[in-house]
Amino acid sequence: MPNPYDPQGPARPEYFGGRKAVLASIAERISIARQHKKSGGILIYGHRGVGKTSLIDKAISEVSGTEDSPSDILVISRRLARTTNDQELYQMLNEGLRQQVANRKNFLDRIRTAARSVSGIAAFELSISFSENKEEKTPYSQWRELVESLMNVGIILITIDDADFLSREAIGELKTIVEELSSTPIILIISGFIGFEEKLVDEYSPVARIFSGADFNIGKFSLEEVKEVLLKPLVNEKTSWTENAITLVQKVTSGYPYLVQCIASASYIENETIGENRVKDKINPAVAIGRSWLEHEIPDASDQDVISFARIASLDKDMLQSTEISRVGVSPPYIGRLVRLGVLKKVRHGRYSLEKSPMIATFELLKRGLSLSD
Ligand SMILES: Nc1ncnc2c1ncn2[C@@H]1O[C@H](COP(=O)(O)OP(=O)(O)OP(=O)(O)O)[C@@H](O)[C@H]1O
Ligand SMILES: [Mg+2]
Repeated sequence: MPNPYDPQGPARPEYFGGRKAVLASIAERISIARQHKKSGGILIYGHRGVGKTSLIDKAISEVSGTEDSPSDILVISRRLARTTNDQELYQMLNEGLRQQVANRKNFLDRIRTAARSVSGIAAFELSISFSENKEEKTPYSQWRELVESLMNVGIILITIDDADFLSREAIGELKTIVEELSSTPIILIISGFIGFEEKLVDEYSPVARIFSGADFNIGKFSLEEVKEVLLKPLVNEKTSWTENAITLVQKVTSGYPYLVQCIASASYIENETIGENRVKDKINPAVAIGRSWLEHEIPDASDQDVISFARIASLDKDMLQSTEISRVGVSPPYIGRLVRLGVLKKVRHGRYSLEKSPMIATFELLKRGLSLSD
């Protein structure tokens, strides 16, 4: 079996572990949408590399049914990589919706050609033709028309990964998309970086309300979650991990999903039991894997800076008072250094936000062979 641990991309849904509360909330919104035709939103946010894309992929796979028997949920899934305005947002949604209708038709045609049964599989259909729904109409009115003419669709699931790229106007439209009455309920899942939720609450409070009760700051894995992530790919395999090795992985990575994948992939060995010593021996190779991504985050940091950063990270907060920072032994001159390194940002008097992923502190400790008691 090839190495099942892979830090290079989002987790494969079948190897995805943890995040039970978020997945349960998504399932609940889906069920409310089915029963009461009620639309709703879910917001996932967190630092870089914490697993936002993996979580969205998992949510999609949970609702999509199987390849042979796809569900009645029409999924429009987009990942943003540049600023996207309201017009572009609707264009994306329109394209996505048309694409899904066409895909489903092709799928059913193929099955029928193979003379297999299509019963129970929804044929997504539109009561208007694609050509009617084009040209002179605005992207917004096209969207309305498409949604209203959709047939045999239980729910429309829209996912927007890295929604930080949405323009001010586009963010405003999220509310329209979720709250405008439509015959097919819409579930909207969006992801953003760590400051995204606060930005929504501060600057777009009516939009933030779509996500109230369903916004999730995802961060470190618990020991249970690390265990699940390590063991899930090994069902029916002879490879295993000792309890102590799992505990050590959690400890050295502080539970940051990307670092868990780095150390797991460095430690993996087919058909053997991975123990504590192997994990210890593989810390350097794991750091080497992480370098490509994390090496250049704080190039000018001294060992003392890294320790200060790690102490602050151990508070497990994204917003910090200067008094809290002093309490973990980081004095004002060192706070000033972290501000210059871009780790902290002063937001108002005596209040700082953590700008860099705390995972970087853990990575630098491992790379430099430092520990917090130094
Ligand atoms: N729930 C999970 N189970 C297993 N591995 C995970 C999980 N979440 C994240 N990972 C691992 O962590 C790494 C980063 O995941 P992902 O790309 O989803 O993060 P992200 O938050 O979308 O990152 P970015 O901020 O760069 O967009 C990947 O190596 C992925 O395999
Ligand atoms: Mg991502």
